Amino acid sequence: MTYLWLKAGHIIFVIFWMAGLFMLPRYFVYHQEAPEGSAENALWLEREGKLLKIILWPSLVVSWVLGLTLAISTGAFSQGWFHAKLAVVLILTAYHVWLAGYHAALKQGQRKLSGKKLRILNEVPGIAAAVIVIMVVLRPF
Ligand code: HEM
Repeated sequence: MTYLWLKAGHIIFVIFWMAGLFMLPRYFVYHQEAPEGSAENALWLEREGKLLKIILWPSLVVSWVLGLTLAISTGAFSQGWFHAKLAVVLILTAYHVWLAGYHAALKQGQRKLSGKKLRILNEVPGIAAAVIVIMVVLRPF
């Protein structure tokens, strides 16, 4: 039963993590449409900060802790599908850290990317999630 509870918890927090990764770049797009220094600009900074603190960082940590516990208890580290999955999850984690850095830059008034580029970047978690789920469910190698 423990294994099934671990896996259920893992999938639940992965869903929260993915939801946050899809929402934050959208927030950045709408944020950058607000005039700098305006009350709306401050409101978006607050919303982004809360999304990172309450959803994104906790769900990243719990997804990793439960995922690694599953990997150790099932011997996944010796399997090819898991190596491929872990590589894509590391890219997703780097993307998460980059998003947190982008929020910090917005706090400094730096708007580094256009709304169009942010929308294109928002495809990253979708593509990554598709590859990850195919690896863990089909285990092609
Ligand atoms: C954060 C690091 C992660 C690690 C270390 C990890 C590791 C694992 C392991 C070892 C399993 C159990 C496999 C088994 O039952 O034998 C698992 C299951 C699963 N993982 Fe992850 N995972 C991580 C992130 C993710 C992410 C980001 C997603 C989706 C976007 C994901 C989706 C799933 C799904 C859907 C299952 C259940 C598969 C099944 O029951 O057939 N995982 N994960």
